[in-house]
Amino acid sequence: MAEQRTSIHGQWTNRTVFILAATGSAVGLGNIWKFPYITGENGGGTFVLVYLLCIALIGIPIMMAEIMLGRRGKQSPINTMIALAKEERRSPGWVWLGWMGVVAGFLILSYYSVIAGWAMSYVFRTGGGMFLGVTADGVNSIFTDLVSDPERLLAWHTLFMVMTMMVVSRGVKNGIERAVTFLMPLLFGLLIVIVIYAMTTGYFMEGVQFLFTPGSIDGKGVLIAMGHAFFTLSLGMGAIMVYGSYLSKDHSIVQAAIWIALADTVVALLAGLAIFPIVFANGLEPGAGPGLIFQTLPIAFGHMQGGTLVGVVFFTLLVFAAWTSAISLIEPAVAYLVENKGLTRIYASVLIGVFTWFVGLGTVFSFNIWKDKTFSIPYMFDNFTFFDTLDYLTANIMLPLGGLFIAIFAAWVMRQQSTRDELATYPFIYMVWRVLVRFITPLAVIVVFLNAIGAIKI
Ligand code: TRP
Repeated sequence: MAEQRTSIHGQWTNRTVFILAATGSAVGLGNIWKFPYITGENGGGTFVLVYLLCIALIGIPIMMAEIMLGRRGKQSPINTMIALAKEERRSPGWVWLGWMGVVAGFLILSYYSVIAGWAMSYVFRTGGGMFLGVTADGVNSIFTDLVSDPERLLAWHTLFMVMTMMVVSRGVKNGIERAVTFLMPLLFGLLIVIVIYAMTTGYFMEGVQFLFTPGSIDGKGVLIAMGHAFFTLSLGMGAIMVYGSYLSKDHSIVQAAIWIALADTVVALLAGLAIFPIVFANGLEPGAGPGLIFQTLPIAFGHMQGGTLVGVVFFTLLVFAAWTSAISLIEPAVAYLVENKGLTRIYASVLIGVFTWFVGLGTVFSFNIWKDKTFSIPYMFDNFTFFDTLDYLTANIMLPLGGLFIAIFAAWVMRQQSTRDELATYPFIYMVWRVLVRFITPLAVIVVFLNAIGAIKI
């Protein structure tokens, strides 16, 4: 059955294009903006270790499962879940998994776009020479100026949403294929340039130690590390599933998943190696929060040879990385509207874009006029702003839950014959995968959840 389905949205030209697009989705603000600041907030070494374990034991197996579901279903996650559940003669109720993904996707995009807006504004700040010879206090006040101005944030957020809608409305495949091919390697190269600068600060080893020396971590920290493994690999909400639906049958899912996870992890670690030496060299606070890269990297650009150019190119590439991620966040929703409501891609994109833009206002205001409007949820968090709340609920609750049920569906609901059809090019790896998604991955997610609310102690 699965073999006869084709996607009405088209297919990737070849496997490399799929890997590039999925890497484009995975590598984004999560790696360069979020990973360093949450590592800083959660004390470094142990957090990084837990994160790496989660990538290997939870992330990679779930990525294989998600690509597989998408490739068999060949539709938006909502319809894929309906089709696969039917094919396996199971309850159509599995459709909620697709719906949760759609909701998580646009909630994430609503704040992702605001942060991408910060990166855009930094292209111009760097280009204008604002950081030449700057001090740590100087960068700090430049950052505070930006985020305390709702109008400016709103303008950048709007621009980024328009850019995202433009690509999504034209179809994911036209455009990003080419962009990703040369932009990703360039981003990688520039990160290395900044790491080399970080080596000259005299504090490189402090940075390395912070990242890799185990310390202490609490249950919440472990949950945040796991949530980030999902976030950074774009897992748990159907983004990778929908990309998988454009993949043809004769490509190896196993290899693709490993490549994507590897590239993503290397970029995150490089970002950490670039940022923490600068933090320590300038007496900054590793736990400074969401502004961390905007309060550290400009110091490097203001002091290194040719820093203005490096800085402009770097922030431009960061915007591109965010762009190729953002489009994957609403592709599931757009694909669904095209399939079920007969909308054109353009109309569907605009509709969802406007809605997402509107929710994004909450994040824009979280940093200024709503700074003191906070939320608390028992056992989860206290006094979080709108932005913190959205981020926590999506990354640490919705994505792991989505991933948990994707694993359960792939390992317990689908017949073994169905998954073997898709993944068994390497029998040994298939066996390992099956043990992981059947037992280890679901158990790990559940234990981390229970541990975070204090129900058990590990
Ligand atoms: N992975 C991207 C990043 O690290 C963000 C992202 C894109 C994402 N698509 C996603 C996160 C789907 C969760 C789910 O920046």
